[in-house]
Amino acid sequence: MTRGYFISFEGLDGAGKTTQISLLERWLQEHGIDYIRTREPGGTALGVEIRRLLFQQPELAITPLAETFLFQADRAQHFETVVLPALAAGKVVVSDRCFDSSIAYQGIAQGVGRDLVERLSHLAAQGHAPDLTFFLDLDPALVSARTDVTQDSSGQREQQSRFDSASEDFQRRLRDAFLFLAASYPLRIQVIDAAQTPEAVHQAILAHVISLIHS
Ligand code: TMP
Repeated sequence: MTRGYFISFEGLDGAGKTTQISLLERWLQEHGIDYIRTREPGGTALGVEIRRLLFQQPELAITPLAETFLFQADRAQHFETVVLPALAAGKVVVSDRCFDSSIAYQGIAQGVGRDLVERLSHLAAQGHAPDLTFFLDLDPALVSARTDVTQDSSGQREQQSRFDSASEDFQRRLRDAFLFLAASYPLRIQVIDAAQTPEAVHQAILAHVISLIHS
């Protein structure tokens, strides 16, 4: 491999990203491919603090625009100090979420504006984008059933989302936003039916990853 590849995973909370990232990670290890696993928000020390602000202080009021900038600050730090150096070193970067989440959650579903959030994301990512993005698509009715309070890496309980995860209407808006983005970027964003078995989802993902790294 002569250059790095950037792969991101997107989906509603509870769509199975963590499982799929772990399966891909195992495959990369088995094939001796140098990779890093990272996430937004929270892929850097600053990002962990931003994640705490966002998800562990329910009493803290944050406007949608302020929230947008917090996610972008996380992203700026993440790209500069983690993603871009790893790509320059020829590694595969596997990220649990990237800027499509900002566009879908803040830009479209929260109403901050798609164009504005897209431009801010472009700045924060220094003009870079994932080579391949998987949107794990699941019916919001199924997502709510899977969604609950989770723990962060230090075992702290996190709200699953600041964004009224119980509201199916919000989840539907989000799903529509991701599908709209997938239609706008059909080469980069692959929509994967996440209602299949985890192994079937993994195989669908692998087919795209293999064709990317052999391209
Ligand atoms: P996670 O639990 O999958 O790591 O995601 C954290 C939450 O943050 C999830 O509800 C999606 C949301 N999010 C945004 O609203 N905007 C963003 O830019 C990112 C990266 C995540």
